[in-house]
Amino acid sequence: MLNVDLIEKMGNIVGTENISVASCELYCYSSDASQIRGMPEVVIKPRTTAQVSDIVRLAYEHNIPVTARGAGTGLSGGCVPLEGGIVLDMSGMNRIVEFDLDNLQVIVEPGIVQEKLNKALEPYGFFFPPDPGSSAMCTIGGLIANNGSGMRSVKYGTTRSYVLGLEIVMADGKIIKTGSKTMKTVAGYSLTDLFVGSEGTLGIITQAIIKVRALPKERSVIFASFKTPELAGKAVVKVLSSGIVPSACEILDSNIIRALNNYDPKLNLPQAGAILLFEVDGSEAEVKEGINLIVKACEDLASAIRTASDKKERDEIWAARRLAGAAISRLDPVRTRVYVGEDVGVPIKEIPKMLHKVDEISKEFDLPIMTYGHIGDGNLHTGMCIDMLSDEDWMKLNAAADKIHRTAIELGGTVTAEHGVGSARSEYMRLELGSALDVMITIKKALDPKGILNPGKMGV
Ligand code: LAC
Ligand code: ZN
Repeated sequence: MLNVDLIEKMGNIVGTENISVASCELYCYSSDASQIRGMPEVVIKPRTTAQVSDIVRLAYEHNIPVTARGAGTGLSGGCVPLEGGIVLDMSGMNRIVEFDLDNLQVIVEPGIVQEKLNKALEPYGFFFPPDPGSSAMCTIGGLIANNGSGMRSVKYGTTRSYVLGLEIVMADGKIIKTGSKTMKTVAGYSLTDLFVGSEGTLGIITQAIIKVRALPKERSVIFASFKTPELAGKAVVKVLSSGIVPSACEILDSNIIRALNNYDPKLNLPQAGAILLFEVDGSEAEVKEGINLIVKACEDLASAIRTASDKKERDEIWAARRLAGAAISRLDPVRTRVYVGEDVGVPIKEIPKMLHKVDEISKEFDLPIMTYGHIGDGNLHTGMCIDMLSDEDWMKLNAAADKIHRTAIELGGTVTAEHGVGSARSEYMRLELGSALDVMITIKKALDPKGILNPGKMGV
């Protein structure tokens, strides 16, 4: 167990200014953006891989849980130290170690913020595409640990597609490197892929080789209004199955539209049953063609279609979309948005059915559900608001979330398409993964035999 002696040894590793047991600081590290809570016993802010390795080695010798954390923007309790122990705040390891754009890559430390990396890449005409709502805050380490994605994954894929290699501190403190600087390799098991999305349960990421892409020359946004979310879902299937690859394909249902208009009346979004927001990027000709094809595919189903007039309107619409999660809480002063059951994904063909089911669940539990999200990936954020002091509301919320999760699985989908399992969704892993969960447990036991890395997460 942690004692004064060990704390002193850890302080000697990272410097006493980078370690804290002050209760006010521990409290700040006891949550992420979900409602899940767990108090650490010590917070450590390492600056180097060697420090991470030395700390983890000590933790391993003394059976102390270690939970790595980036910016704490997660929505599944992934970085919450459920069993106490050490929180490793990786946000101080935030350097770009190597700018290697001739090789279309950068080597970064995990604490660098997504937006900062993109600001550094922009003057060179490159970008790192994964773009979650929290881009202004979230770290690359957090994105890798959760295989984060966001608005652009419908065209550009998830974080996984951009990780060429990793430096990892294993549970016993050993440092390994996976992958390489090459664009492809088949040397050995794809350990890089194993660690991406493993939520800190198999090792601590201390460096990453990240592939970057050339910035597209042009972009254009088009919004289509529909009478119902289901019709919007049908339009998405039609657009995607006709071979168009938009760089974003988002849905906002009528409740979210109201919340956003309420939040910022200047937005003046059409109060439709649902809106689809499409973005197309590429050369001028590609954008023009993409927009024409989307209009054609949506024409019969939409009640109105409009292209954003200029860059200003386009930026405003994306800024508003990023606020969707927060705007929900502004609808009713008594109610608060709770991130539970909010991240299902279904196969593309099942999108209309899932949207219909969400509507039924909302009615069944008499709980307004505000649906938005990356519908081009079949990924829906079903936002629910409750009075946090009402036990009845919590019961309704949990029952509705359970039904949403089970419905997604029944449709061949997933309980989490981008926010991660953490502890929020670990109870569904058996149902979703079946005996594949046993393989995960075997891997976990092999790589972390003492179970010190982020215990209590992912169902392992
Ligand atoms: C979003 C976050 C909640 O898409 O994933 O806004
Ligand atoms: Zn999202």
